[in-house]
Amino acid sequence: MRSHYCGQINASNIDQTVTLCGWVHRRRDHGGVIFVDLRDREGLAQVVIDPDTHEAFALAERVRNEFVLKVTGRVRRRPEGTENPSLPSGEVEVLCSELEILNHAETPPFVIEDDSDVNEDVRLRYRYIDLRRPVMLQRLRLRNEVARALRGFLDDEGFYEVETPFLTKATPEGARDFLVPSRLQAGSFYALPQSPQLFKQLLMVSGLDRYYQIVRCFRDEDLRADRQPEFTQLDIETSFMDEDAIMLLMERMVHELFCNVLEQALPEPFPRISYAEAVRRFGSDRPDLRIPLELVDIGDLLTGVEFKVFAGPANDPDGRVAALRLPAGGELTRKEIDVYTKFVGIYGARGLAYIKVNELAKGREGLQSPILKFLPDAVVKEIMQRTGAADGDLVFFGADKARVVNEALGALRVRLGEDRGLVERGWRPVWVVDFPMFDWDPQQKRWDALHHPFTAPRVDDPEALVADPGNALSRAYDLVINGTEVGGGSVRIHRPEMQAEVFALLGLSDEETREKFGFLLDALKYGAPPHGGIAFGLDRLVMLMTGASSIREVIAFPKTQSASCPLTQAPAPVSALQLDELNLRVRHPA
Ligand code: AMO
Ligand code: AMP
Repeated sequence: MRSHYCGQINASNIDQTVTLCGWVHRRRDHGGVIFVDLRDREGLAQVVIDPDTHEAFALAERVRNEFVLKVTGRVRRRPEGTENPSLPSGEVEVLCSELEILNHAETPPFVIEDDSDVNEDVRLRYRYIDLRRPVMLQRLRLRNEVARALRGFLDDEGFYEVETPFLTKATPEGARDFLVPSRLQAGSFYALPQSPQLFKQLLMVSGLDRYYQIVRCFRDEDLRADRQPEFTQLDIETSFMDEDAIMLLMERMVHELFCNVLEQALPEPFPRISYAEAVRRFGSDRPDLRIPLELVDIGDLLTGVEFKVFAGPANDPDGRVAALRLPAGGELTRKEIDVYTKFVGIYGARGLAYIKVNELAKGREGLQSPILKFLPDAVVKEIMQRTGAADGDLVFFGADKARVVNEALGALRVRLGEDRGLVERGWRPVWVVDFPMFDWDPQQKRWDALHHPFTAPRVDDPEALVADPGNALSRAYDLVINGTEVGGGSVRIHRPEMQAEVFALLGLSDEETREKFGFLLDALKYGAPPHGGIAFGLDRLVMLMTGASSIREVIAFPKTQSASCPLTQAPAPVSALQLDELNLRVRHPA
């Protein structure tokens, strides 16, 4: 139908006759002449309809926003002074000779503009209109480029793309499963995969050597800005590569991705930091290295002080007392500090002690704080030294179970970075390594896998692992960019004895292991090569690369926070007949 995209018309087309198809972005009547901004995927073109072209003019008078038109006409230079330098087609316009209305449109529920503050539910209900906004099209375009660049890289490196089943058995990644009832086997269910983890490992046993897949994963978990119940992974597995080789290859891939798609270079090589150091310095295993604030341990100074709030956690092996210095934080008002105190409360902190540093040289007199009276001079002095406090600063304190302090001060660090304009520009990737194998669950009184249970421990010997699971490190690695965990993976267990031992440590009985993972243990017995891999959250990568505030902004048809789709109204009840066929009965909540 068309000869050119609207957005691609420019001065090089002057005097050519072109045919454009698109949507009426705006129509203006200028005393006898009608202007239509015609919009398509590639942008806008100005169409001029003169009363001399009677038929076209009569039609143009009936045209409304979002009508679909086909326009033929000659490209000409816009009259001097009417050019629009902000449009690629802004130097020219199309003098219409023929106009066809391909379709009518009702008045859209919102204006198609980049910065409209329409409620997200409405945007999602009319997503097909929302996606007409140039910013949304641009995000989908970049997403396509990202996928293409990644495929190109992996193809060049000898990876095969292999599809794995969606109707399968549970693959544990720490979330709830979405279940699909089986019609043919009453009472049985498929689980949608939380990731293709086990299948990609089986492909390594098969000798595929290098696998990748851009694949949907399904996890029934509480949603946040960077979580969707279905999301896309770039899933990768390799054989005969150790963690160093895998990380280096992936680093090269991510580097090329940012170069090719954004024309931006990432720092080389990506720094690596241990899990323990990340938590100690940043309170988080996904540190945003653009923020120059760090947690400093001071518990050892406080074991003997009278102030119970500090002394308690300082003497508790599971406790932590840490300080966070905010340069120039002395400017904060009482009210602002109250807001931050409330903020850390979200993470379970029971308060947020602080010291304002007015004039260090004056000693105690130069400091200002409700807790100063509880702390001896020597302790105060050492805290000031350790945190590197200077005049005008403010030092915050967290004291509680280590988990609470890390989460609270870790989140405060990010919030202060944003509020105080301390976030540096650019990309700060970091590999987080040396994760513990297990996490103790005090309620269930058992070990949990920090990653998934197929992650290899550092120790080769199952007995050594069992002897001290609490201190065992894994061969896992996460890639964090600007505080977002974009990928995670590990070298896997490839020997059945070790895999069985890890299942046992996680509290699975022999029967449970057999029933859930028997097929994996079997496969490991038939010559499984050493193997490992990684999966990247594609939505998160694209979110970062587009600067979007949520992964919903880079997914064509996302779910809301309550995991529903306002467009299709999913999830929805089904008919009694369907339930019957599936041998299901719904128990309605009281
Ligand atoms: P993991 O569970 O860490 O690892 O997932 C890998 C990456 O997927 C992204 N991600 C998500 N993105 C959006 N919404 C979600 N609900 C969501 N959950 C995870 C994150 C994360 O880093 N099988 C392993 C990988 C492996 O070991 O190779 C796995 O799935 O960016
Ligand atoms: P209180 O003795 O409870 O009045 O607390 C004195 C100061 O310590 C206040 O500024 C509180 O915000 C702060 N505070 C109380 N509990 C904690 C805690 N667990 N961690 C850090 N600061 C706290």
